Amino acid sequence: MLSNNFFLLSTLAISLLGTVKSAPLTFRLGKRGVAFDYQNDKVRGVSLGGWFVLEPWITPSIFEPWATSKTVVDEYTYTQTLGKAAASIALTNHWNTWITEDDFTQIGQNGLNHVRIPIGYWAVAPLDGDPYVQGQLNVLDQAISWARNANLKVLLDLHGAPGSQNGFDNSGRYGPIDWQQGDTVSQTITALQNLAQRYSDDTDVVTAIELLNEPQGGALNLTELRTFYQSGYETVTGASSNYATAIHDAFQDIDTYWNGFMTPASSGDQNVLLDTHQYQVFSTAQVAMSPSAHVTAACALGSYVAGTDLWTIVGEWTGAQTDCAQWLNGLGTGARYDGSLAGSSYVGSCAGKATGTVADLSSDDKDNLQHFIDAQLDAYEEHTGWIFWTWRTESAPEWHLQNLTAAGLFPNPPTSRAYPGQCNS
Ligand SMILES: *[C@@H]1O[C@H](CO)[C@@H](O)[C@H](O)[C@H]1NC(C)=O
Ligand SMILES: *[C@@H]1O[C@H](CO)[C@@H](O)[C@H](O)[C@H]1NC(C)=O
Repeated sequence: MLSNNFFLLSTLAISLLGTVKSAPLTFRLGKRGVAFDYQNDKVRGVSLGGWFVLEPWITPSIFEPWATSKTVVDEYTYTQTLGKAAASIALTNHWNTWITEDDFTQIGQNGLNHVRIPIGYWAVAPLDGDPYVQGQLNVLDQAISWARNANLKVLLDLHGAPGSQNGFDNSGRYGPIDWQQGDTVSQTITALQNLAQRYSDDTDVVTAIELLNEPQGGALNLTELRTFYQSGYETVTGASSNYATAIHDAFQDIDTYWNGFMTPASSGDQNVLLDTHQYQVFSTAQVAMSPSAHVTAACALGSYVAGTDLWTIVGEWTGAQTDCAQWLNGLGTGARYDGSLAGSSYVGSCAGKATGTVADLSSDDKDNLQHFIDAQLDAYEEHTGWIFWTWRTESAPEWHLQNLTAAGLFPNPPTSRAYPGQCNS
């Protein structure tokens, strides 16, 4: 996309050149810098999950035909099974309806200032032989304008890399982790280059690019990941120095592991954001915690995020205290909380939490969720801020920011609190 600003300013500069010789042309055409003050302002945002990268638990209706056979479990197998023509029609319809300009307007009205938009490499640098289909960039182009109209900043997030960086369905392909094999890292750099160049005149809105979502540090070579982060940084800032670059912590400790890496004073790297994801639902011990233990754990994250030497956002978190949301652990799988996931044992019933609406949550669940959300907001604002996962789901109520806000369970404005000061004791 080309920003109107660029042409307006060019025209202005040229006309100035004709009349006022001393006009400081480079002043207006030069670097604007990052268009959000990550040093002093708080990031308050939401991810637009399940839009350009399908996730079965966010839109189960798309995957329902394979609920029993489990032969379609992610965007890769979905497009492979439908074939390009049918997949293209179905996904174009999905892209045009799952999120519209009205959502951006509401997000702005809810007092948020960022949207994080996950996108797969196949949108910008598809590989021969991939079943994935394209066309989502036209919608993303529109989304940048919608964000501009709603006064929102956009963090573009490369959510899926060739080979899969984590084996999760949300990388596009569930299964083995083959990223870092063969040419996959250089293909990822190409994807970042195409993405960063495409929006290099839209940095008034697209303030940050995240190099890679949730690389699975435990299964990858972290030395090579760090090298990738350095070259990804060069790629993104080479396209425009107005971009901030976001790096995910790869599930390593943000203080002990990441402090000192890409720190401006030691590396000269500027405008780097560390992204850590904080869920309390993906282990047996976590789903067994009491509501007040969840709040205590949330509060403890305040000093954890404050202890980093890069700007740090909690770039994914939720209101859920269980993993009950249907298919959260993968299509056709159960939950740890009610013991229906292989290897887990019963903690409590998922009734009312697995599917349904925010309105139908029990009053206990609503109250616990509201305490938990307010505590997390307090903690995550100890550093650069937060991005909730996710704006909407078809049937997972605790993850549905739009409805949680409408129900008064998520604060609007996000600085107000139903339960202030929970982390002060
Ligand atoms: C990780 O990658 C580095 C650089 O390529 C290499 O020297 C090292 O041996 C690798 N580590 C492992 C455990 O494979
Ligand atoms: C969200 O709200 C809409 C409008 O009331 C409703 O149709 C939908 O079922 C709700 N979904 C959830 C998960 O709360």
